[in-house]
Amino acid sequence: MILYFSGTGNGKYIANRIAAVTSDEVVSINDKMKNKDTQEIEVNGNLVFVLPTYAWRIPRVVRKWILNTTFKSAENVWFVMSCGGEIGNAAKYNKELCEQKNFVYKGTAQIVMPDNYILMFKLPEEKKLQEIVEKANPVIDDIAKQIVDNREFSKPRNNLYDRFMSGPVNSMFYSMYVKSDKFKVSDKCIGCGKCAKMCPLNNICMQDGKPTWGKECTQCMACISYCPVEAIDYGKKTAGKRRYRME
Ligand SMILES: Cc1cc2nc3c(=O)[nH]c(=O)nc-3n(C[C@H](O)[C@H](O)[C@H](O)COP(=O)(O)O)c2cc1C
Ligand code: SF4
Ligand code: SF4
Repeated sequence: MILYFSGTGNGKYIANRIAAVTSDEVVSINDKMKNKDTQEIEVNGNLVFVLPTYAWRIPRVVRKWILNTTFKSAENVWFVMSCGGEIGNAAKYNKELCEQKNFVYKGTAQIVMPDNYILMFKLPEEKKLQEIVEKANPVIDDIAKQIVDNREFSKPRNNLYDRFMSGPVNSMFYSMYVKSDKFKVSDKCIGCGKCAKMCPLNNICMQDGKPTWGKECTQCMACISYCPVEAIDYGKKTAGKRRYRME
């Protein structure tokens, strides 16, 4: 089974590409979270988590969901983390999570995909985005073959910088940046409700035909990125920037 969480589609793309090789069932963690579903999942075999990197680790909300969910007869577990550049020392925390869950940890792999974090960065031109995905494709296919062969992934880089980013910087990032207080909507909004529908944490309510944001945000970028008329901004940070969606 392949379980993915994805704000802007990279994870879904990777999960489906792996499944094309492994013939595994693909299941969305977004849907499970949205439905507050932590019911036991029948894995009966290998389990692959395809997750984005948030501050050099897997998203906290996903970690919490994994801890709260029972996975029946899960054998070997692999983590495939998409990122804009680097996953730091995320592997250490994934291994610890596996120990807590009594999973057999088979490693963490990094896939560099377009960086969706437009609150901090600007997207490169379209051609560059395509090049990043073209470069990722053979890496994903190779990872899928390793899973089919039941092989352990080779250990990712783990230097002092990686440990610092996945450790103290991760904590700092969450307390300083992971908020939804600056989301705002412009007059362009057509009241379609897509932002509310896409939010995996049900953090958006439609009031008088316009979205309002609560406090349960993991900054997955789904709302701002999937709005069909680009009516959402985060303060001034996203003004005039192109949105990212893997389609
Ligand atoms: C809140 C947030 C934090 C991020 N932190 C990192 C990071 O630490 N390192 C990195 O390389 N990319 C980081 N990214 C980029 C994403 O991990 C990357 O674009 C990922 O492929 C998005 O996957 P998705 O489309 O499945 O949501 C971050 C993105 C977001 C939204
Ligand atoms: S997705 Fe965009 S247009 Fe649709 S309700 Fe949300 S903000 Fe308005
Ligand atoms: S409010 Fe937007 S950014 Fe925050 S979790 Fe929901 S969809 Fe993601």
